[in-house]
Amino acid sequence: MCGIVGYIGLDRAGSVMLDGLKRLEYRGYDSSGMVVSAGKGFEQIKRTGRVVKLEESLKEPQLGGNLGISHTRWATHGDVSEANAHPHTSSDGKISLVHNGVIENYNGMKDFLAGKGYTFQSETDSEALCNLIAYHYDKEPKDGKKNPFHEAVRKSLRHVEGTYGIAVVCPDFPEDLIGARKGSPLIVGIGKGEHLLASDVSAITHCTQNVVYLDDNEVVHLKKDNFSISTVSSKSVEAVIHKVDWDTSEAELGDYDHFMQKEIFEQPTSLENGMRGRFSDDGSTAFFGGLNLNPQELCQIDRILFLACGTAWHSCLVAEYLIERFARIPVEVEYASEFRYRNAPLDKNTLVVAISQSGETIDTLGALREAKRKGFRTLAINNSVGSTIARESDGGIYQHAGSEIGVASTKAFTSQIMICAMLALYLGRLRDLSYGDGVQIVNALKKLPEQVKEILKQNDKIAAVAKKFAKYEDCLFLGRQLMFPIALEGALKLKEISYIHAEGYPAAEMKHGPIALICEDCPSVFLVTSGETFSKSLANVQEVKARKGKVICIATEDCDIPDGLVDETILVPECHEIVKPILMSIPIQLFSYHVALERGCDVDKPRNLAKSVTVE
Ligand code: AGP
Repeated sequence: MCGIVGYIGLDRAGSVMLDGLKRLEYRGYDSSGMVVSAGKGFEQIKRTGRVVKLEESLKEPQLGGNLGISHTRWATHGDVSEANAHPHTSSDGKISLVHNGVIENYNGMKDFLAGKGYTFQSETDSEALCNLIAYHYDKEPKDGKKNPFHEAVRKSLRHVEGTYGIAVVCPDFPEDLIGARKGSPLIVGIGKGEHLLASDVSAITHCTQNVVYLDDNEVVHLKKDNFSISTVSSKSVEAVIHKVDWDTSEAELGDYDHFMQKEIFEQPTSLENGMRGRFSDDGSTAFFGGLNLNPQELCQIDRILFLACGTAWHSCLVAEYLIERFARIPVEVEYASEFRYRNAPLDKNTLVVAISQSGETIDTLGALREAKRKGFRTLAINNSVGSTIARESDGGIYQHAGSEIGVASTKAFTSQIMICAMLALYLGRLRDLSYGDGVQIVNALKKLPEQVKEILKQNDKIAAVAKKFAKYEDCLFLGRQLMFPIALEGALKLKEISYIHAEGYPAAEMKHGPIALICEDCPSVFLVTSGETFSKSLANVQEVKARKGKVICIATEDCDIPDGLVDETILVPECHEIVKPILMSIPIQLFSYHVALERGCDVDKPRNLAKSVTVE
């Protein structure tokens, strides 16, 4: 999704914004640009491609300047071109703007503005908003009673249908920077003699740790030494300053080749951090500080609805199996994008849980708001402190997995399913789960970091297997019960970074269609664990082998896989049922990573994808 960095204050606007855009590259984009006051008015520079292209175009004065706005664009309206890149400047030259979001009524705006003599250089919705602000600015009285620039932004936003996070400048007001948000995140950075705007806190932590998270329909007016926040309808808002405990080293690669690789290998630590301080003294259950629901209220819950997108949705599917198995509470899982428009009937004792690594996914946010509108209690399992989803849910559980930069989610996924396992344990121990069963689960969870380290030692072996399978254009991932969501996750990992067409299915579903795909050119990855489905999983493997399909089998060590049955075997340590999804995820992450490398794909910035999907 688009990235925004705005700056006002000292003579370093261009360089601060450039650093900020580089820190936002992981979000996914296709062009970038900035407007900077470099002494003689504003200068606008825009380039397609990577931020380095913009950097190469900047001259010394443009790295300075005391005011500027900048942007990385993930195309929604209009193709990838310099004209469509942001910032946009109004045809009268009075307003420049960068925008993240989707303006749904921009065509009507363009028709109205064209009738007023405004012209358009791009196909974007953002340029329509830019000209609309210029129109209102032109109409504003310049009698000094009100700031016409601020009033023009405020009045224009009242006509917008859709979502926006914007930063705006006006050459007539070289001491003013204005930002606003509705549906797309925007954060204010508070520095010494300088202020910043950003769509993501990671873009500005090199300048300040003090931030204010704007809420929807808020407008912030920044000068170098002060700022004020008000609503679009002019009601003033008191700023709440948060201190970001961001460890800037997290946003650096260190000794790794890619962020995805780094984050796969960080999982022993991220799992440890997510569990820290969350087990009871008697070692038989877990607890969370921020649920804002006491045991009595939790015992009234008779259904849990999980909402998410993508990998987080796979976490919800794991949660369904675990909570129904260990807490005996019925669970439903919905794609957030579907739930928000489905008007599903829910009974009043339903708890709604949103899972989101970024805490800004617009469909998950929309579904959460829909659930709140209907009066349901909401929780968020989230990896981004201060994110919109975290702030708008009634309670929540932070993952503490550390920042996840790679577009393909890895440590956030295993952290989410670990949190869901702990939630299942906690809810189960409020109901029928025995002390002994609880102690076994806590012990299994505590062993996870060491067991993950053991699996990571197979990196080279898994890389060798990946090399053999990187040539295929199709691949099936198959698993039963708790391994079905992991099969889906394996398929998503492989498709999103290697562009192989991969699909995940419950293994038993093979005979209902997918087996037609099996041939020498369509390998299968089977996720096999011991227990009641083991023999049936083996039967499914044999059905594939009988049709010349190649098979990679990822299995727990206590599975007796007959010699010669499969083409490759990757084993994970024997473990408690509740942690199998986590351990079995590690090999599929490494497999997809190495296949993508072998195919020369951009692992951390896969084509067309963004780290946080903040537009519908
Ligand atoms: C996962 O590898 C993808 N990057 C994507 O599916 C992601 O999980 C999804 O967009 C949800 O993001 P969130 O967890 O930040 O809400």
